[in-house]
Amino acid sequence: MKLLRVLNGETVWPPPAWLMRQAGRYLPEYREVRSQAGDFLRLCLNPELAAEVTLQPIRRFGLDAAILFSDILILPWALGQDLTFAEGEGPMMPPVSSREDLARLSLDRAAAGTATIFETVKRVKDGLPPETALIGFAGGPFTVGCYMLDGRGGGAFPRTRMLAYENPALVDGVIELLVEGTIAYLLGQIEAGADCVMLFESWAGILPPALFRKLVIEPNRQIVAALKAKAPWLKIIGFPRMAGLMLGPYVRGTGVDAVGLDETADAAGAIAACPEGTVFQGNLDPLLMRMGGAALRRGAEDVLDAFAGRPHVFNLGHGITPDADPQNVAELLKVIRASDDGV
Ligand code: CP3
Repeated sequence: MKLLRVLNGETVWPPPAWLMRQAGRYLPEYREVRSQAGDFLRLCLNPELAAEVTLQPIRRFGLDAAILFSDILILPWALGQDLTFAEGEGPMMPPVSSREDLARLSLDRAAAGTATIFETVKRVKDGLPPETALIGFAGGPFTVGCYMLDGRGGGAFPRTRMLAYENPALVDGVIELLVEGTIAYLLGQIEAGADCVMLFESWAGILPPALFRKLVIEPNRQIVAALKAKAPWLKIIGFPRMAGLMLGPYVRGTGVDAVGLDETADAAGAIAACPEGTVFQGNLDPLLMRMGGAALRRGAEDVLDAFAGRPHVFNLGHGITPDADPQNVAELLKVIRASDDGV
C-alpha cells in the first residue's frame, strides 16, 4: 500500500492521493444512498450503507486510500450526548454546561454505540482492493469538545473559549473523557481492520499558544502514546488545522508520524518548522475542486513541487465541498499520476 509506505517515511512518487470528505454530497451516488438512509446520522449508523458510500469514491476514481465514512461527533453521541444534523444548520447537541451533564456521559455506554462503526470498518476492509489503504479516524478531543460545550458548530465556539478560563475543570473533564473514549474508539477501528488512523483537530487554530499546548498538544500526545503502546506499528496522521506557528510544537509534542496541512500553510515554512523526516499530507485549496481547469492543474503542480523528494500524501487542505465537480477529481488524479519530478 502506497499510503503506508509513505507513512513509514519512504518517498514514493507520484505520491498516494486521497481527499478529505471524498465520500460526500458532490457525488450523485452518495446523495442517492443518503436519501435512502433518511438522514446523515442514520447513514453513519448503518454499516451496510456507510460501507457502500465509503467505497463509492474508490470505485469511481481509484484513490489510494479510503476513509471510513462516519463523523467525529459519533463518539460523543455514543457517550450519551444527543446529536442531530439539521438540514443546512450542521450538527446540534444539547451543550454540556455542568459537572452533572458531564457525569451523564459514560465510557461503558460508548462501547454499544461504536460497535456499528467497527462493523462498517470490517465491511469496508472486505470490499477494498488490497492496494487501497483504509484510514480510521476520530476527532481531536479539543475539536469534539468544542461541539459538546458550545452545542453547535460555526467556528467561533465562544462558550468553549470562555469556559477554558472560567471553568477549566469542566473543560478538562470533557477532554479527559474524550481522550479515554478516543483511545478505545480508535483501537476498536484498528482491530476491525483500519490500516492507520487520523486525528481531526480541525479547530486547533482558534486557541492562543498556552491553551493550544494544554488542550490540543497534551491530549493528542496522550492518545498517540496509548495507541502506540498497544499497536507499536500503527501510523498516526495528526491534523491540527490552522495551527500556524504551533505546527512544529504540535508535531514534536504529540509524536504523530504525519501531519496534515491546511491550504493556508506554506510548505517550505512547514518543512522548516517540523523535525527532519516528518511526513506531510495536503494541501491543495479545496476551492480548486469547484474551479477546475488551468487553475486546478497549476495548483496541483505547485503542491507536487513543494513536497517533491520527501514523503508526501497528496490531499486537499480541508474537505471537498458539495459544489465540487466530480470530473475535477479525475482530472486532479491525472495530474498527480503524470507527475515524474520526484527526487
Ligand atoms: O472525510 C471523509 O470523507 C470521511 C467522513 C467524515 C465526515 N466528517 C463526513 C461528513 C469525516 C472524517 C468528518 C469529520 C468531521 N466532522 C470534522 C473534522 C473535519 C473537518 O471537516 O473539519 C468535523 C468538524 C465534523 C463535524 C461536522 N459534520 C460538521 C461541521 C458537519 C456539517 C458541515 C457539512 O459539511 O454539512 C458535518 C456533516 C458531515 N460529515 C457531512 C459528511 C459527508 C455532510 C452530511 C450530509 O451528507 O449532509
